[in-house]
Amino acid sequence: MSAPLHTRAYRLLPGARVSGVVRVPGDKSISHRALMLGGIAEGASEISGFLASEDCLATLAALLELGVSIERPERERVIVHGTGMAGLRAPAGPLNMGNAGTAMRLAMGLLAGRPFDSTLIGDASLMRRPMERVAVPLRLMGARVLTHAGRPPVQILAEKSLTAIDYALPVASAQVKSAILLAALRADGRTRVSEPAPTRDHTERMLATFGVELVRSTGAVALEGGQSLQATRIEIPGDFSSAAFFIVAACLAATEPVMLENVGVNPTRTGLIELLREMGADIRVHHRSARAAAAEPVADLEVRGSRLHGIKVPEAMVPLAIDEFPVFFIAAACAQGETLVRGAHELRVKESDRLAAMAEGLGRLGVEHDLLPDGLWIRGRDELGGATIDSHGDHRVAMAFAIASLRATAPLEILDVANVTTSFPGFVATARAAGLTLEES
Ligand code: S3P
Repeated sequence: MSAPLHTRAYRLLPGARVSGVVRVPGDKSISHRALMLGGIAEGASEISGFLASEDCLATLAALLELGVSIERPERERVIVHGTGMAGLRAPAGPLNMGNAGTAMRLAMGLLAGRPFDSTLIGDASLMRRPMERVAVPLRLMGARVLTHAGRPPVQILAEKSLTAIDYALPVASAQVKSAILLAALRADGRTRVSEPAPTRDHTERMLATFGVELVRSTGAVALEGGQSLQATRIEIPGDFSSAAFFIVAACLAATEPVMLENVGVNPTRTGLIELLREMGADIRVHHRSARAAAAEPVADLEVRGSRLHGIKVPEAMVPLAIDEFPVFFIAAACAQGETLVRGAHELRVKESDRLAAMAEGLGRLGVEHDLLPDGLWIRGRDELGGATIDSHGDHRVAMAFAIASLRATAPLEILDVANVTTSFPGFVATARAAGLTLEES
């Protein structure tokens, strides 16, 4: 296959130290949800702290296509004029979700059982990702959803109504849970979704903020169809998954405590803090507050440099740190002793096969490792080598290896990094301000 046209690269000098105050952009998961729920609410919802990344802008563009009117008076402030539950209109053509799995899967729930057909497509990575996990429960609700050998393009055919289901998720996936909940809002009867392990609950929290009544119990959530959403104000906290790169950076190379301000610390997202503490990290959480508008806890994090040691990651922790494994593996590669992660098959079907991509890059840095079907075993080292690493177009793999430079002995080149802007616009500037020596080409 020929290389994509816009491959960009990072070049990092080894052994930088980090310090200071870091602010990361808004949460990606919450930004997608704020747009979509605002789009089907009654009235105008005002969103601040919006993540102006390619992924979230794909959701915004799709909603415009569906007839939602949206103003963006500032880069990170968005006003969504909701159409009400039944107001979305047929798009003129396929909706392109870019690199964003969340956008595509949640949109499937939003568009199932509508009086018009719609088609969802994406970039080369998204076109390879599994969509049957969402299509199956939506079909049980009466939607007509077609995938191509389980993958996009996804076609959702016009259908008059949906019926409630009681569904046990076979995989722990917040995206699948959220798609079902979005469809359930328009279904006849009470839908219940149970999950095999806790996953991020931003949809449940935000639906409640929009006035939807949900019943939450351990491992399950239920809602009655036919409810409407009332517009609201949403303040989006900084993305914990973006902060994760600087949390690990501080553990590995802080000269003085690094402060990360205004970070979302929803407990369904912060598994990385627990894992790193277990490895010996010094991470302090300050000013925890529940933001009224988004019902999401927010904190400032203080992280000191520490000597880490390897751990065996409990499988139940995997969904709570699912997006943080690329940078967690870098922490493990710099820790004393062995680290083992199992039960993480889901990493194989993210923006890239993250187990394979990380194993390949760690190998290039001279790190002893074993790639397992559902995880990775790593033996940490005091120092990493220099190398050229292929990020496979995966934003989190690219950023994780940038952090690895802090413990490298020679320069690192990271290829195919253009997709960093899907989740973390401003990563390069933030990394430089924190102390990394990073050139972009
Ligand atoms: C997300 C859920 C997770 C996560 C993804 C965002 C969400 O995916 O990996 O980056 O916003 O719901 P799964 O739910 O498929 O594990």
